[in-house]
Amino acid sequence: MWAGMTIGKDDKALRRELARRLIAVQEEQRLRLSRELHDDLGQMLASIALELHNVRAGSRELDDRLARATVLVDQLSAKVHDAAWSLRPADLDRLGLRASVEDLATMLCAQLGISCDVDLEALSSPLSREIALTLYRIAQEALTNVGKHAQPSRVSVTAHIHDDRMRLTIEDDGRGFDGGAEPGPGHLGLAGMRERLALVGGELTIETAMTKGTTVYADVPLAG
Ligand SMILES: Nc1ncnc2c1ncn2[C@@H]1O[C@H](COP(=O)(O)OP(=O)(O)OP(=O)(O)O)[C@@H](O)[C@H]1O
Ligand SMILES: [Mg+2]
Repeated sequence: MWAGMTIGKDDKALRRELARRLIAVQEEQRLRLSRELHDDLGQMLASIALELHNVRAGSRELDDRLARATVLVDQLSAKVHDAAWSLRPADLDRLGLRASVEDLATMLCAQLGISCDVDLEALSSPLSREIALTLYRIAQEALTNVGKHAQPSRVSVTAHIHDDRMRLTIEDDGRGFDGGAEPGPGHLGLAGMRERLALVGGELTIETAMTKGTTVYADVPLAG
């Protein structure tokens, strides 16, 4: 939006204000979507599942079809539940960023049944709400990617401060991927992480190679 422009002092304040509003709007949209998915879609699917579980057609072929439909509705319900859960607003005010990211990491590692190295002390330092939300969403997407794509035997999530910049690192030793290839149209996660970081003057770096694991670095400025 402001690429290529020289940013003066007033522009910087304007940029911060724009980023703050955009991030607030994104979080509101996520909250609305999460509620709709959970309350509307989730409830309707639960009712359909109940009907299907109780109905018997009396013919073998129809009962087999009903059983397959029941399995599909149950799988769909689980997906809607997961989507609503991952869209829910981050509970940063209550838990703080460090504990929230720790929770994401330990939950993923428990699901994958692997060990997790976590060193997130740096996330306890005072951060603006926008930076905290951005880092939380980066950790969430990067860890979701690890769960969906990496098949790792080890994951580490660390944060460190160097020269007024915070670096959050999510590393796995899984399958890796061709980092040079453009992700197809259905793949929004990496692009979304880049956009979020750009909003707060940050940057995403990915080191990966086939079979060599993946490391995601999210760097954000701590001072204005
Ligand atoms: N940690 C990882 N390990 C292995 N492959 C990965 C990892 N992270 C990303 N990838 C690869 O990069 C692709 C693009 O990731 P991206 O997050 O943009 O999309 P996605 O996860 O497929 O879909 P979504 O839009 O739901 O995020 C993935 O499809 C996957 O092939
Ligand atoms: Mg993804």
